[in-house]
Amino acid sequence: MEKKLVFSGVQPTGSLHLGNYLGALKNFVDLQKNNECIYCVVDLHAITVFQDPIELRDNILETTAAFLASGLDHKKSIIFNQSSVSGHAELAWILNCVARIGWLNRMTQFKDKAGKDREKASVGLYIYPNLMAADILLYKSTHVPVGADQKQHLELCRDIAQRFNNDFKKNIFPIPEPLIQKNISRVMSLRDGTKKMSKSDESSYSRIDLKDSADEIVKKIKKAKSDSLPIPESLSELDSKPEALNLLNIYSDLNKSTLEKTLNEMKGKDYSYLKNKLSEILIEIICPIGKKITQFLDDKNFLEKVINEGSEKANKIAQKNLKEIKNTVGFL
Ligand code: AMP
Ligand code: TRP
Repeated sequence: MEKKLVFSGVQPTGSLHLGNYLGALKNFVDLQKNNECIYCVVDLHAITVFQDPIELRDNILETTAAFLASGLDHKKSIIFNQSSVSGHAELAWILNCVARIGWLNRMTQFKDKAGKDREKASVGLYIYPNLMAADILLYKSTHVPVGADQKQHLELCRDIAQRFNNDFKKNIFPIPEPLIQKNISRVMSLRDGTKKMSKSDESSYSRIDLKDSADEIVKKIKKAKSDSLPIPESLSELDSKPEALNLLNIYSDLNKSTLEKTLNEMKGKDYSYLKNKLSEILIEIICPIGKKITQFLDDKNFLEKVINEGSEKANKIAQKNLKEIKNTVGFL
């Protein structure tokens, strides 16, 4: 059987939230048991939108702390920050010359993030998906755990890998597979069930941060939008109730159950019943992670040691692959 090499990245742009945990981090931890895994704090991606340098430094350490607090083990997996391995930026340049403008023009995340005034977006934001492809391909990764919002970027990465292999008539890159959670690939905002839960939402009531206290969790879940009618019996009735569906999905996932089973247990009950149960399980699962993040942040030297050691290991693999890639392209 082909050996898996797992790679994924998280941007250090603020505190991580329940969407990051259920959509990505939880999967990272499961994969670490039986595979070689590389997890990267993608600081080069973060600066595609201006970051205050002092905050960026804190956020790199906080994202590293969140990785460890969620259960990643730096002895098993490589944990590091992207800017410390120069191969990411070098390969990104080569891939800029492989990817087509037409492919990038289809990226919906760029359209969303750049908004109406696209001319004012940084060039980095536009070519961000090529850098993401470089992250993955630099290690010849075969599997990439991500939330559903990254599916299109993964498809682009596959196209770039294929195009490179075809252009140079050599099978340099494996075509990486996305690993997207089945039950809950997109955790939605607690205020608007049609928008994804996001670090950048102005309202902190839209998300559960991993560092939230038990009181904050209870308050946010109480205020979360749901529905005025009782919990329905069938899945189809939830189609027009995205906020209710989101709460039920989150509960089912944390409870290691399915939406069908949760509906069976809760049909006819008021949403306050679901909200109490949901708060309880969130406090049980999320608060210990939050406490560990705070503890890790008290020992910045340790966090720096983890990423320095990780960078060294990542750099070794990157340099070896980059040599082969540069040679393939025709550089001396
Ligand atoms: P980011 O914070 O944008 O760097 O995202 C890090 C990882 O978390 C990526 O794999 C995203 O797909 C995932 N992610 C972010 N927000 C959500 C969400 N609301 N639901 C599910 N996954 C998410
Ligand atoms: N673009 C991803 C996000 O915003 C982060 C990311 C950067 C990533 N490089 C990656 C994810 C490589 C997986 C693999 O969430």
